[in-house]
Amino acid sequence: MTSSEDQLENSTNHASLERAKARSVELEEAIDQDPSRFRILTGDRPTGKLHLGHYFGTLKNRVELQNRGVETWVLVADYQVITDRDAVGPLRQRVLGLVADYLAVGIDPKRSIIFNHSAVPALNQLLLPFLSLVTESELHRNPTVKSELDATNGRAMSGLLLTYPVHQAADILFCKANLVPVGQDQLPHLEQTRLIAQRFDRRYGRADKEHPVFPRPDALLSKTPLLLGTDGNKMSKSRGNTIELDMTADETARVLKKAKTDPDRVITYDPENRPEVSNLLMMASLATGEDPHAIADRIGDGGGGTLKSVVTDALNEFLAPIRERREELAANEDYLLEVLHHGDEVANEQADRTLAEVRRAMDMVY
Ligand code: TRP
Repeated sequence: MTSSEDQLENSTNHASLERAKARSVELEEAIDQDPSRFRILTGDRPTGKLHLGHYFGTLKNRVELQNRGVETWVLVADYQVITDRDAVGPLRQRVLGLVADYLAVGIDPKRSIIFNHSAVPALNQLLLPFLSLVTESELHRNPTVKSELDATNGRAMSGLLLTYPVHQAADILFCKANLVPVGQDQLPHLEQTRLIAQRFDRRYGRADKEHPVFPRPDALLSKTPLLLGTDGNKMSKSRGNTIELDMTADETARVLKKAKTDPDRVITYDPENRPEVSNLLMMASLATGEDPHAIADRIGDGGGGTLKSVVTDALNEFLAPIRERREELAANEDYLLEVLHHGDEVANEQADRTLAEVRRAMDMVY
């Protein structure tokens, strides 16, 4: 790519980010006015345990949206696990662990639907007509696909990795979700999903233009600051810098003891110049609701050791009730399965209805 094309792409991204931000403000107001207008679809890949980054980045927000009265569908994206790896790992255990995490943090199975890809055949079948609506070069240009590929360290691009934005469009569109809470990096997926919805309705144009088969879903950008791992790098399991929701208080203390700080004994909140110290302060702040500057002032010249013990106490206290609930849930596999099976049943009814509509639009009912 030439540098002028680069610049063009950057400025377009910038403009679309600004648009998405402004749109999110409007959406938040619309939710307050009438939450029943919205249906949310979100989800996670069952590739490992959920950690603090997930909690403050998305889970907390999902629970709040649910509690504000928005119908929330939560997808355990089991088919997406194989996009960038050969083996699925201990998948059953991870799927049930994810369900336990969801319930422990406050996703309420009476109000929200928890379901998984592989149990909903009609969702996956949408991939066929949807694939006909995108071009190969469009998929190759998707920045999220590019960065996912880069993260696999030279692994060849699989057909599924290339097309997973289309699968994700099926996740969103099968249940006619019109709102998807995302981080900035996921905006291209939403754009692709809207294009697919638009092209489907154009190609199989219904006489009745007032009632398109699919909604045009909006991104709802999350407002939470990015939490880094305990070493100041991106929080990720493979770096051993995460605090997982199901860790014990002792394990949490151990991870934080190894956390990176800096030689200045006077603790200050200064994300630009002291990223590691500030990130630890942010963890404590998110756990207690207290301003990070105030926490820093209290620690004063107590140094990294005091900071770490303050963060450990704050996190352990905050996580204690979540961990307690999670432990009870994890011991009750029957209940976790019951929640998932119920969600799958609701998801199947919806997916069958949507697929029937799609086939009708495509004149495939015989
Ligand atoms: N890609 C998401 C993740 O990596 C999971 C996911 C699958 C998803 N389908 C989705 C998120 C649809 C939002 C919308 O965890």
